[in-house]
Amino acid sequence: MTWRNAIKLSKIKSKSMRMLNLGTKIIMIYREEEDFLATEGLCRHMRWPLSWGGKIEDGCLTCPLHQTRHRLEDGELMEWAPFPLFPPYGKFVGKFSRKKNLKIYKTRKTGDYLQVFLD
Ligand code: FES
Repeated sequence: MTWRNAIKLSKIKSKSMRMLNLGTKIIMIYREEEDFLATEGLCRHMRWPLSWGGKIEDGCLTCPLHQTRHRLEDGELMEWAPFPLFPPYGKFVGKFSRKKNLKIYKTRKTGDYLQVFLD
């Protein structure tokens, strides 16, 4: 359990997302002005990288592929794949994924860096 430097603050613009490898974890960082959030980087449904088209609105993060949606406050699953873009493939592979909340990581700014707490 430790704080890790994730990214230089100057390397991420407001309203943008970045994927990072921190140790063995893939993390998605989102910046909105001076606020940051960090979640696990791959969608719980079929492991789509959430920074590739993920949408943040109304306090939730929605995966672009099949619209799985999680609340950002605590990562709770709000909706599980309501829109299968490729119905046969998506439904089949999705059956092997266990419905699960999205991991949300604590963040803090230290000097020029954003740090993420890995537990
Ligand atoms: S991969 Fe994200 S909803 Fe299916």
